Amino acid sequence: MAGRIPHEFIDELIARSDIVELINRRVPLRKAGKDYQACCPFHDEKTPSFTVSADKQFYHCFGCGAHGTAIGFLMEFEHQEFREAVEELARAAGLEVPVEGGAAPLKGPDTRPLYAVMEQAAQLYQQQLRQHPQAARAVDYLKGRGLSGKIALAFGLGYAPPDWDFLLGRLGRTEPERQHLILAGLVIDQDGKIYDRFRDRVIFPIRDRRGRVIGLGGRILGDGKPKYLNSPETPIFHKGRELYGLHEALKVHRQPERLLVVEGYLDVIALAQFGIDYAVATLGTATTPEHLRLLLPQAPELVFCFDGDRAGREAAWKALETCLPQASGQQEIRFLFLPEGEDPDTLVRQEGREAFEDRIRQATPLSDFLFEQLSKGIDLASLDGRARLGSRVTPLLAHLPPGLLRDLLRDRLSRLVGVGVTLPRLDAGTGRRPSGASAASRRRGGANLGRRPATSPLRLAIALLIQHPELASALTGLGQDWHHLDNPGIRLLERLIATLATQPDLSSAALLERWREEEDFKILIQLSDPRLLAHIPTEGLEPELTGAIQRLNQEALTTRSGNLFNRASPGDWTEEEKAALRQAVQPSQG
Ligand code: UTP
Ligand code: MN
Repeated sequence: MAGRIPHEFIDELIARSDIVELINRRVPLRKAGKDYQACCPFHDEKTPSFTVSADKQFYHCFGCGAHGTAIGFLMEFEHQEFREAVEELARAAGLEVPVEGGAAPLKGPDTRPLYAVMEQAAQLYQQQLRQHPQAARAVDYLKGRGLSGKIALAFGLGYAPPDWDFLLGRLGRTEPERQHLILAGLVIDQDGKIYDRFRDRVIFPIRDRRGRVIGLGGRILGDGKPKYLNSPETPIFHKGRELYGLHEALKVHRQPERLLVVEGYLDVIALAQFGIDYAVATLGTATTPEHLRLLLPQAPELVFCFDGDRAGREAAWKALETCLPQASGQQEIRFLFLPEGEDPDTLVRQEGREAFEDRIRQATPLSDFLFEQLSKGIDLASLDGRARLGSRVTPLLAHLPPGLLRDLLRDRLSRLVGVGVTLPRLDAGTGRRPSGASAASRRRGGANLGRRPATSPLRLAIALLIQHPELASALTGLGQDWHHLDNPGIRLLERLIATLATQPDLSSAALLERWREEEDFKILIQLSDPRLLAHIPTEGLEPELTGAIQRLNQEALTTRSGNLFNRASPGDWTEEEKAALRQAVQPSQG
């Protein structure tokens, strides 16, 4: 288990983050009064009921009840884990995520030296492409493939000299250094004999989205096997999660209109050289769900590029299947099939940017590709054929999240089959399929609860405090002695009040995040639904809170006297207890 992130840090993070900006980058917002609005990204709607509040640092959908903080938004919208979301926000805010009880994460090795050594290695190799006596062959190879010096520089291409100990001799002079080289996969340890992994190859540094070098690819100069040698999986490099060229593409376009997914390093680079500077490559693996999680939020359009041959179509189908669970229809997903025997590198060099971009524009939409593949060998003129199509398509649609695309495909299927197609019903309260709900939305609990106004004093008090932390100041001087109330909710309320007593300036979001990893988080997130308090006018909020607290005090007294009556004899009662009893049995003052 990784070390806990101190709550002071989360406070700071929420205070420094801007949820409006964060969401606006993914879901364009429009100002409406003092809040911001958009059509809800979590359910399907035509008029905007998704609201983002800068004051509260909170989002809320009046349609489906989705709501949460900046961290919650990243978890829901980008399916990030808590820690990932915190790290993303921290990066944006220029903060380093600390860990309680020490600087280094408790889990796994300290990765910082690995990033450092990767960067040094990439730089050394880049230098060798210009300086090494043998580099002329590498330069000639790259020139022979049509690469300009400018593009080689933009992608940081390098040359690993033929020596077995080039890197070892420079970056591995001490034992700890050698260990880092081995862990980073730059050096191979074979039964104690250690030597450089990359020798006499062109080097392609692989960067993560932030631009840190995390791995290398090395191409042989000319023919030979293996053609490419890549960094192995290391603590900082996971092929299935990284995309070559993403950092470079995002450096040119902060918000690209489109991303193109290709297969090879040199495809990315050649395309960029010709001005198609928004291509990324998977690293010799099929597209993974992690890839999509990384890509989909970056651009409104995603185009996969494949070979036109059979293998290419099969790979495309795999990619389609991987896309479905994340295909809400927010982004357009299309498939580009190239003429057999061509790859983007060769094709763009032959026909240039315009022609290649024409191909991209004409790429097959996901829905067309889906129906094209599934209707193969089916005679749609026959009833039997239509039934078969229906039984092929429906199970796939079940993988889709509710949204535009799902509706579009369902309607299309209905038209083709000739009868209305019904899909698993959406949960009426949340607009989500119950089974399709993400872990985070399940954590959020039943949104239906949110429809009911908060009535019990306990629920009301918690809802008021979490949604309007500024009201806490009204509680000074109002006693709270709830020891006798045996209810976990009371403990939660006590902690809320105590927290706000020491930190009255916490926003709703910061307050909520305090409980993220606790059981009570579920309750708090339910009670932060604004619909619970919608019936209370602004000027009524404070009296509601003090009233609720007084009712709780009353309840505590009654409970306590109940306990007293259960005791053996009134003679055992203390004076204090007797006073409390008298107070409790008097009619309430209001
Ligand atoms: P390709 O063989 O299509 O490579 O493999 P390419 O980019 O067109 O290479 P050139 O044009 O012949 O130089 C596509 C990707 O698969 C991975 C690499 O990431 C490569 O870019 N691959 C391929 C390997 O990892 N190892 C190999 O031996 C071959
Ligand atoms: Mn190629």
